[in-house]
Amino acid sequence: MARKQRATIFGAGYVGLTTAVLFANCGVEVTLVEVNPERLKSLRAGKSFFYEAGINELLQNALKQGSLGLENEAELALKHAGVIFSCVGTPDYPDGSSNLSYVYEVADRVAAFASDDAVFVQKSTVPVGTGEKIEASFKAKSCPVSYVSNPEFLREGTAIQDSLWFDRVVVGGTNPKACQTVIELYKRIEENRDKLAKIAGIPRVDHEPGHYITTNRNSAELIKVTANAFLALKISFANSIAKLADQADADVNDVMDAVGADRRIGRAFLNAGRGYGGGCFPKDVSGLIASASDHGVDMPIMIAASDVNESMPGYIAKKVQENLKSLQGKKIAVLGLSFKSGTSDARKSPGVSLANSLDKGKADVQVYDPHANGEAKEELRNGVKICNTMSEAITKCDAVIIATDWPEFKTADIKSMASKMSGSLFVDAMNCFDKNKVKDSGLKYVGVGRT
Ligand code: UDX
Repeated sequence: MARKQRATIFGAGYVGLTTAVLFANCGVEVTLVEVNPERLKSLRAGKSFFYEAGINELLQNALKQGSLGLENEAELALKHAGVIFSCVGTPDYPDGSSNLSYVYEVADRVAAFASDDAVFVQKSTVPVGTGEKIEASFKAKSCPVSYVSNPEFLREGTAIQDSLWFDRVVVGGTNPKACQTVIELYKRIEENRDKLAKIAGIPRVDHEPGHYITTNRNSAELIKVTANAFLALKISFANSIAKLADQADADVNDVMDAVGADRRIGRAFLNAGRGYGGGCFPKDVSGLIASASDHGVDMPIMIAASDVNESMPGYIAKKVQENLKSLQGKKIAVLGLSFKSGTSDARKSPGVSLANSLDKGKADVQVYDPHANGEAKEELRNGVKICNTMSEAITKCDAVIIATDWPEFKTADIKSMASKMSGSLFVDAMNCFDKNKVKDSGLKYVGVGRT
């Protein structure tokens, strides 16, 4: 490539920041635009405002070598950018549909300031048909910028690893040259992945080479939401079977191990427990239902998946109540507030819902998370006490609930946990413990579908 590639990236969330620091560490001049002043300040000091393994190391290296600019305004950077990524949030409205105002704002800035030969890449998760509307608005403004849909599949907690050792990169658009420009950028990451992993301080992954998939714009948009909806469906399916296993004296872990051994099915995302949370699955499922409805299509299968998921924290709280006879005045520790391990993200977290529902039931709730205490604080009811250590949370408790499978919990000495508690109820809402080991420590093991 003769000309130095310049990219402008809108939005420093999980997707935008990961994309920015990776490109900036493999020869691309990146300007990252973030409008939140506190986040910007933290990033300029070399610190991500969320916890993600390896991200600070890549950020600091990019800042040191001068390949990453951090701005709250993009006008100048847009003029020079060859490729512009939109990675802004698409939160859900109360009716479940996607709020696309940030996406359209970015598109307006691009139409106003980008150079004519720029490529505009949509990485934000948008309902199918959004790109078509943006392209129409570009046309109406006589803006010749090419539009490419490039959905993101990284998971929080393993964002860098997923980006370096990806399963697929999907690009959809009408301009083949623009699609190729985007693919070339990802190839830089692929070619530099050992170096990038070293800077990030994360281990190499043994992985088959990923696929580059080119398709049309609307299919690319639909691929992203379909993938997330299917994974959510698998989880809710596993949770439905878990409820049956509870009644039928079966162990859902054994069931799913055997079912998942069928290569046509696969074991991934069949872990039953307190259900899915986070910034993606709940929103993407409700977004798909709303977008299908806009196209005159019913999605009862996804409505059911969402209903099952929302029932899980209450289902577990009921198990606790049945085992303790009553919740009132009982001291209960909820361990794990992030929506999964490896992240500080507590958005739509089942652990938080569980703690709040026990507090509503008049239990005396104490919570602890190694990384998410801060982010969960806003979401927790006033009565819930946030503890600084696991030991503080479980001391003199009638029951302990594992709501996130953090290594700190999974490797804890159960006998020593039991000695700190005053009661003996151990609720494994992640189904991640050896139930016999828990029972051997004198505790009563209650899983989800593991009687
Ligand atoms: C998801 C998609 O996996 C990713 O491809 C997309 O880009 C963003 O959304 P993420 O939300 O980071 O990623 O987390 P993921 O690992 O998929 O887990 C989502 C939720 O499902 C978590 O709450 C997790 O605990 C739960 N889960 C996952 C289960 O309850 N059971 C499982 O078997 C797997």
